[in-house]
Amino acid sequence: MYILGIETSCDETGVAIYHEKLGLIHHVLYSQISMHREYGGVVPELASRDHIRKLIPLIKEALNASQLQVSDISGIAYTAGPGLVGAILVGAATARSLAWTWNIPAIAVHHMEGHLLSPMLEANPPAYPFIALLISGGHTLLVKVTQVGHYQILGESLDDAAGEAFDKTAKMLGLEYPGGPMLSQLATQGVARFKFPRPMTDRPGLDFSFSGLKTFTMNKLHETAQTPQDKADIAYAFQQAVAETLSIKCKRALEATQLKTLVVAGGVSANQQIRATLTAMTLKVGANIYFPRPEFCTDNGAMIAYAGCQRLLAGEHSNLEIIAKPRWPISEISTAQ
Ligand code: KG4
Ligand code: ZN
Repeated sequence: MYILGIETSCDETGVAIYHEKLGLIHHVLYSQISMHREYGGVVPELASRDHIRKLIPLIKEALNASQLQVSDISGIAYTAGPGLVGAILVGAATARSLAWTWNIPAIAVHHMEGHLLSPMLEANPPAYPFIALLISGGHTLLVKVTQVGHYQILGESLDDAAGEAFDKTAKMLGLEYPGGPMLSQLATQGVARFKFPRPMTDRPGLDFSFSGLKTFTMNKLHETAQTPQDKADIAYAFQQAVAETLSIKCKRALEATQLKTLVVAGGVSANQQIRATLTAMTLKVGANIYFPRPEFCTDNGAMIAYAGCQRLLAGEHSNLEIIAKPRWPISEISTAQ
């Protein structure tokens, strides 16, 4: 069963073809970063228009590269939310229309479920049950995963998501969009000079808060002469504070649930310092850790094709409705059978 996956929730147009037994067949990605860079962030209307321009050519490209015909495709998975409504609608309407024309099912996928399952695309996937740390531009979630569709939220950010904190802090430091990767690049030139707080680690619980860290960073920046070295040292201290905060909470979640497997996914999981800090922690507590390959940390069509395939295999069907939910808590996701 070949499944076509479509991701258009933000600033990347992703298309992939996944086969239930053969695995990932092909994936293509078009990033809008260069278009949004001059505005310092994602411009929703421009994002939607660009998805319209790129989506059909990318679907054709994926089919050609896979040497597949339209008749080989058994289902279409598309991101139905959360994200930018106009951008989601492009993928949702295209997926639903193609599915109707090709007489196959289309399945609405939750974007964060796609991220959560992205390490399953790797050759050595984690076994259920596990703890998932999802760190993206819009979410910071600690989730207990017992099987596909069975998610119990253990903790979440009470304010800024981890990626959002990276992006806003990067802006303060005068870095270009996208802030996260730029900040982590700057941090490689920094040294351990400042000690930043590890928010909400001094009390029990698995929730996060990153907005105070952002304010602390701003104050620290104003206390210095803001030389390139000052900025690099601040980027280093900020990144280390985020990495250690995430690590403390993940350790707590593993201990509280007695689970021995940690899965880390979402755009921020591409961060090398965060990967290293979490890996060191799991080594210390005798747990296993899994990440997607870097290209599947950020948005992509492969994770949507995989998640949709699992739901179709579980017998899930959607009707002809075009589903686009800009706000869609993962707690409201339906349970795959
Ligand atoms: O998962 P993603 O591509 O989109 C959302 O679902 O939000 O995540 C994007 C977020 C952005 O905030 C971006 O700055 C951050 O992931 N990000 C990073 C890195 N690469 C992407 N943050 C820190 N370090 C990175 N290397
Ligand atoms: Zn994402």
